[in-house]
Amino acid sequence: MRILFVCLGNICRSPSAEAVMRGLIEREGLEGFEIDSAGTGDWHVGSPADPRAIAAATERGVAIGGTARQVEPADFGYFDLILAMDRSNHANLLAMEGADPEKVRLFREMAGEGDLDVPDPYYGGEDGFDEVLDILERGSVILLETVRR
Ligand code: 4NP
Repeated sequence: MRILFVCLGNICRSPSAEAVMRGLIEREGLEGFEIDSAGTGDWHVGSPADPRAIAAATERGVAIGGTARQVEPADFGYFDLILAMDRSNHANLLAMEGADPEKVRLFREMAGEGDLDVPDPYYGGEDGFDEVLDILERGSVILLETVRR
């Protein structure tokens, strides 16, 4: 099972989602999962995650790594599930050539929370990063239960 998390810059929400899900999979001792993240935008390609995202995650024992990359057409073939952090990125993914609406889904919708965004914390304060992690930790548990069924 290959899961790709997607946000706008690939420096705040999707690398956090990737790290949360990876941690959960490790804690549960599950095998056969491949987790990655990417952005629909290209401004931060090659940059590490936002220091505020890393700091908030580290406090919870969640290890964010990697550098930002942009979504590429090959991702639509490679990944089984492509989870957008918000409705804007969901729409942008679906507009890309080769996007499969069966695979491209909204994270919170997949987590049973409805048509809701993981709010963009980039221009806000530190609290925004904690709120993002709360949503991701809660949602990832449900998501993992869903995909394991
Ligand atoms: P992300 O946050 O999509 O969660 O990585 C953002 C990062 C950068 C920008 C916007 C959102 N930006 O405008 O550069």
